[in-house]
Amino acid sequence: MSSVNNDIIYLKDYLPPAFLIQTVNLEFDLSPHETRVRSTITFTRNQERNAGLPLELHGNELKLISVEIDGQPLSESQYQITAEQLIIPDVPDQFVLKTDVQIDPANNTSLEGLYRSNTMFCTQCEAEGFRKITYYPDRPDVMAAFTTTVIADKTEYPVLLSNGNPVKKGELDNNRHFVVWQDPFDKPAYLFALVAGDLQVVKDTFTTMSGREVALEIWVEPENITKCDHAMASLKAAMKWDEEVYGREYDLDIYMIVAVNDFNMGAMENKGLNIFNSSCVLARPDTATDGAFQRIEGVVAHEYFHNWSGNRVTCRDWFQLSLKEGFTVYRDQCFSADMNDEAVKRIEDVAMLRTAQFAEDAGPTAHPVRPDHFIEISNFYTLTIYEKGSEIVRMIANLLGPDLFRKGSDLYFERHDGQAVTVEDFIGAMADASGIDFSQFMRWYSQSGTPELTVSGHYDAAAQQYTLTIKQQTPVTKDQPEKLPLHIPVKVGLLNGAGADMPLTLSAGEASGAQGDHDRVLHLREAEQVFVFENIDEEPVPSLLRGFSAPVKLDFGYTQAQLLHLMRHDSDGFNRWDAGQRLAITALKAMVTQFEAGQIPKLDSALTEAYKGLFESGLNPAILAEMLMLPGEAYLAEQFDIVPVDAIHACRNIARKTLAETLNAELEQTVAANQLTGEYRPLAEDIAKRRLKNICQSYLMTLEADAVVERSWQQFSTADNMTDQHAALTALVHSKQDEKAKAALESFEQQWKDDALVMDQWFQVQASRPHPDALARVKALMEHPAFSLKNPNKVRSLISVYCNQNRVNFHSIDGLSYQFLADVVLELDGMNPQIASRLITPLTRWQKMDAKRQQLMQAELQRIAAADLSKDLFEVVQKALP
Ligand code: PHE
Ligand code: ZN
Repeated sequence: MSSVNNDIIYLKDYLPPAFLIQTVNLEFDLSPHETRVRSTITFTRNQERNAGLPLELHGNELKLISVEIDGQPLSESQYQITAEQLIIPDVPDQFVLKTDVQIDPANNTSLEGLYRSNTMFCTQCEAEGFRKITYYPDRPDVMAAFTTTVIADKTEYPVLLSNGNPVKKGELDNNRHFVVWQDPFDKPAYLFALVAGDLQVVKDTFTTMSGREVALEIWVEPENITKCDHAMASLKAAMKWDEEVYGREYDLDIYMIVAVNDFNMGAMENKGLNIFNSSCVLARPDTATDGAFQRIEGVVAHEYFHNWSGNRVTCRDWFQLSLKEGFTVYRDQCFSADMNDEAVKRIEDVAMLRTAQFAEDAGPTAHPVRPDHFIEISNFYTLTIYEKGSEIVRMIANLLGPDLFRKGSDLYFERHDGQAVTVEDFIGAMADASGIDFSQFMRWYSQSGTPELTVSGHYDAAAQQYTLTIKQQTPVTKDQPEKLPLHIPVKVGLLNGAGADMPLTLSAGEASGAQGDHDRVLHLREAEQVFVFENIDEEPVPSLLRGFSAPVKLDFGYTQAQLLHLMRHDSDGFNRWDAGQRLAITALKAMVTQFEAGQIPKLDSALTEAYKGLFESGLNPAILAEMLMLPGEAYLAEQFDIVPVDAIHACRNIARKTLAETLNAELEQTVAANQLTGEYRPLAEDIAKRRLKNICQSYLMTLEADAVVERSWQQFSTADNMTDQHAALTALVHSKQDEKAKAALESFEQQWKDDALVMDQWFQVQASRPHPDALARVKALMEHPAFSLKNPNKVRSLISVYCNQNRVNFHSIDGLSYQFLADVVLELDGMNPQIASRLITPLTRWQKMDAKRQQLMQAELQRIAAADLSKDLFEVVQKALP
């Protein structure tokens, strides 16, 4: 890898392409080690650029067999080849380029370009993988119509797929056959896809709103044919939803999904031929948990929604990545909210954002939602681009309201259909549709870091006024020394003593929503701003940032009584939950202080009382389940400048035990009341009951009474669905019942050893086991026949889960886990740089650890930095070093 250059690419250097393309003809002659790719491309000089520029094509790890222009073979003196480019200095203004290259898919372990997964061939081209297939201007603003011929052995690869419609097929000699695919829509190379293998299909159809029938096909390896129903149902629901909510209709006559086992990400939106990580498409009640069912629903929808937000309208350059990803995540979040429980979906999304994205935004790889430079774009498929990007779109939707937002999105799709555009184009459509001025709002795209709001309330009884003073400040991040005030929508309500929302009349400060409404969106623009509410006849409890109206941290200095009031009465489901989280954080922080002073930590009885109240509050099972969960260790860690890892773990466990003891009767009752009978259904209502039951049971398991342990064992042995089996397995494996844990693990392995996705869960349960022998076990499991460092799902299940979700062990003061992670990352970097550079994340977060751990973590980073690294890992390690 020493040949790679680590140049920084800047947004400000963007120039339009020197050449445009009319048509691309590709011919693939597939063979594991010697695949030939012949391309015929018609180029025209782009009038926007200077005459006389050379033709510069990207190409990585290609063996050039021949190159010709307008039928004339070029001699070696007529072009230059570097590690990353083919340059032809002298070309006419219009010409046909033909190249013939050879590639080696079977040795492609990066899972980028054309590679093998099990016995099939598949591709992954986003972001810059097409250049590993053939020489090409591999940038999203070069769009073209593709015709692709796939040739392969008929017995080994009976199924040959690519983008668009199949237009011709036939037999060749030597038992080979071919299919020609034509994609009528211009597309950038990153949306190209090809699949060849011995696959089976589940078929269905969808009739679009204009009455066209679309063939729907899910292609899988034969053993997975029984696991496609849920993805198919999700696809149809997503197609319908996009018609109803966005007015978007599907455009081709066929929509295909292929499941592959080896995949770097969740899934990929290639035009008409989505390729999915099998974990995001395959599910059957006995093999997949409710969480997996919901994830599949969300990811299938996400990739489908990309057909408009991403494919029909794509990105001009990779700095604009959030243009398609942020918008599409927002669309899939709303879809999932509509299909399930809206408040619960919001709670889950915010919990993830606040835990992981906030940490990213405060760490050494912090970057804006639109970055202005990068070395390796693969490093920017981040929570910031996706999740914070989605929060920005959500803020826009809230600022505009549903009708204007729809008008804005219609305008965006109509104006830019078939184009490769920028964030400005998206915001421009929203601004034109609504008349709103987004100039200050644009800073959300350029400024990294999580804004912090400090709010204080003052009640003037004589004047019947309530004043909120809001200050905003964004802490400096490693990438940006200076921060400016943002335009932040702060949705508020005021609760009276009876818990009802008071009508809001604002006399100072800008807001949207009508005077007299029960909630208003305050427009915070200044570093400090005052908002005055009139006719307030008693001191209210403010409910701030309802629905998490902006991705910020908020400090109000709530009293315990105020939080209890919100937790009981807030009409905003999200804030009701969040009040409970705030109460729990205060209680757990107090315990951490006691722990660190050498005292025995005790849980504040006010929290226990509040939790007790939840059982009598008539909450639906979905919300009750969320509200019963203490904040996780990672989110608790976020509450400290220097993370007391051991104290957090110990105190949270003590708190869970205390709750289990004090609320024993309620927990038992809830477990009993939420046993489902009848066939498994992945419906929100049933999912909520299973979740509530399993959460209560896991509280009870902290006490390890024989009857409770026996109940877990029974559930484990008799469950007819993976949700219950997995919950019981986790309860047993994470308990101190070593023998039962061992027996359950063995029986589970026996039952599922041939199912790769279920074995992933078996690895995860053990990787997250909070026992002191965890590292030794993880190392031993790396030798298990079902484990492979080459398979990203396995790496994520065992190693990522250990390093991210087993915090006490990962941060063990002996530093052995840091060393372990560094070793794995170094080994992996030679095979799959994208996975290596993502895996290293927990080691880069040393700033929040104590001096001793900081030093141990930095030493491992130094050791990695000294090696010969991929661009991906180089960039991350450079940023993370002190
Ligand atoms: N574009 C894909 C998505 O978010 C993600 C992806 C990126 C997949 C890069 C593979 C490689 O839907
Ligand atoms: Zn996406």
